[in-house]
Order: sequence, then C-alpha cells, then structure tokens
Amino acid sequence: MDAEQTTSDARRTMMALRAHRRGGYEQLVYEEAPRPVPGAGEICVAVRAASITFAELTWPETWESDGADRTPVIPSHEFAGVVVEVGPGVTDLAVGDAVFGLVPFNRNGAAAEFVVVPEEFVARKGPTVSDAEAAAAALPALTAWEALNDQLNVTAGQRILIRGGTGGVGAFLTQFAHRLGAEVTVTVTSVAAEDRARRLGADHVIVAGSESDARNRGAFDAAIDAVGADLPEWLYASVRPGGRVVALQEPPSRELADEYGVTASFFVVRVDRARLEELAGLLAAGQIEAAIAQTFPLSDGRAAYASGALPKPAPGKTIVLVS
Ligand SMILES: NC(=O)c1ccc[n+]([C@@H]2O[C@H](COP(=O)([O-])OP(=O)(O)OC[C@H]3O[C@@H](n4cnc5c(N)ncnc54)[C@H](OP(=O)(O)O)[C@@H]3O)[C@@H](O)[C@H]2O)c1
Repeated sequence: MDAEQTTSDARRTMMALRAHRRGGYEQLVYEEAPRPVPGAGEICVAVRAASITFAELTWPETWESDGADRTPVIPSHEFAGVVVEVGPGVTDLAVGDAVFGLVPFNRNGAAAEFVVVPEEFVARKGPTVSDAEAAAAALPALTAWEALNDQLNVTAGQRILIRGGTGGVGAFLTQFAHRLGAEVTVTVTSVAAEDRARRLGADHVIVAGSESDARNRGAFDAAIDAVGADLPEWLYASVRPGGRVVALQEPPSRELADEYGVTASFFVVRVDRARLEELAGLLAAGQIEAAIAQTFPLSDGRAAYASGALPKPAPGKTIVLVS
C-alpha cells in the first residue's frame, strides 16, 4: 500500500463513540467508524469538544429516525469544532471557521472526530470562548431561551420558579430570567448550591425538600422544570391560576394542569442560528457563563456517559474532549 492510499483510507474513517444496541452507557464503545461526508447545505466539522445531555440515551430520536432503527449510533448532539469540509451550496461558512452548535437529534452526534451537520445548525465562535464552554452552552442555552421567550414570554417583574436552577439548562434559565428582569426563585439540591444560584441571578433559593412550603403555593406566574423525570404535583400548585408550567423532559399532566387551573406545555428545542450568534456574543462578553463539571477524552467516552449516575465533582456539563 503506498502513502497516498494510506492517507485516503485514513480520511474515510474516524474514531467515534458508538452504540450498536439500544441501552445506556454500557452499550457505548470507542471504535473506528466511517467518516461522514457533507451533503448539500451541510458542513463537516472536526470536533474539538462535545457536550453530554445524559437523558439523550432515553430519547427515541437517538435510536430511530422516521421509525427506522439507526444503530449503530453516535451520541452527543452539542459541540464545538472547526469546519474542515463544506458541501455544495454552503456559502456562509468556510473551511477553517471555528463553530459551535447542535446536531439534529435523529442523526449521528458529535462524540467522534468528525460530525456532519446542516450549516444552519451552527454559528461562528469567537476565539475568546473555549471549545468546551461553547459546547457546554449550545443546547441548554437555546432551550432556556426558548422556554422563557417563546413558551412563556417572560417580562420584567414576573415571578418565575425554576426547579433545578443550577443544572445544565437550569443555570441558563436562571441567568436569562434574571436578565429579563423577572423575580427569580430556584430550587437546588443542596445548601452548597445556594451561592452559585444567587451568583447566576436567583433572587430566592429553595433547597429541595422544602418546596411544598405553603408560602410558595400559588405565588408564581410561571414554573419551569429543569430537573427532568416526573413533574411533582407541587410545581403545578405553586403557580397562580391562569399561570404557566413548562416541562422539558416529557409532556406534563393535563389532569393536574386542569386541577390547578394552569396551562402546561412541553417543547423540543429548535435551532436558531441568530440566537446561537447572540449567545456567542454574550459568552465572549462574559455576560453569561457556561459551567463545566468535568471533562473526559473521547477514548474514555463511555466513562463520561457512565458518570451521569454519579455525583458530579462540580456543577455544570460533562464534556468529551476530542482534540
Ligand atoms: N425539551 C428539550 O428540548 C430539552 C433540551 C435539553 C434538555 N432537556 C431536558 O432538561 C432536563 C435537564 O437537563 P440538564 O442537561 O439540564 O440536566 P442536568 O444538568 O443534570 O441538571 C439537572 C439539575 O437538576 C438538579 N436536581 C436534581 N434533582 C433535583 C430536585 N429534586 N430538586 C431540585 N433540583 C434537582 C440537579 O442538581 P444536582 O446536580 O445537585 O443533582 C441538576 O442541577 C432533562 O430532563 C433533559 O432531558 C430538554
């Protein structure tokens, strides 16, 4: 085999974290996989940092597309990196651009050396924002932004309750709600998280376990659950009649919403390049922050996903560093 052939073979494959069967982190293997090729309107990015939303392995889109099995799949749909190839028709981005953004959830993700995405799913990233920070911000910040602006139309003076106000999405909900001028109350799991919640912009902090405190019942214009799993009944009860509840993990209970006279909704985040660009500006200016709890090399990606079941060493997102 000559040198040219070796290079060509190397370009056709990449190292990636993949699952060949549905399941949790135990299905993930670090292995060689085909390198993706950008189609029309798509770019190929050399991934530098990929961020994890642990619940992603439970989402149907991770495993299937239009009902068809997608395995083997590559997880992680939040990333930062450098454009290495552009498909036909791409005009806004060029090889060498540093970008960050999302991967559509029903496509292979960014826990790999390369990822292909539609060009409108990314924005340019300034040099002062690290790859890990940009990857950590993309999905949670867009989700928080959509919850507060599109779902709730939050305005100054509104009383907003955020359950889990220092998590991945929760930290951005707290920061953005504060920037919108809302009176922000957040719940956290420990007294230790109180200071961080206040630094992010919370006016009031409730430590988990005392949420059903009667003083908070019916007090809020809107409540958002940024914890996931089951939405507790007290969250519906904490909102005034006519107020709003937003769930991020799954559609809320219509019965409980009716019982407490609130409107409850669920949405799946949509990508908006203009918002990603604005987000890049806010991160670069230090006006918002993305917290990074821990980092793992791609070769140790399974451990990164396994860490979701363990206490985090610090608040924030878990990042897979690729190069
Ligand atoms: N709909 C969408 O488009 C969309 C997009 C992104 C994410 N999501 C969903 O949003 C949810 C949160 O995701 P994430 O990435 O932000 O997760 P995360 O980083 O793990 O954040 C969850 C937060 O909840 C806190 N928490 C856990 N139990 C709590 C309790 N009983 N009371 C108060 N806080 C509690 C955790 O605190 P500790 O760390 O101290 O345990 C953590 O700060 C997930 O369900 C995810 O699927 C939805």
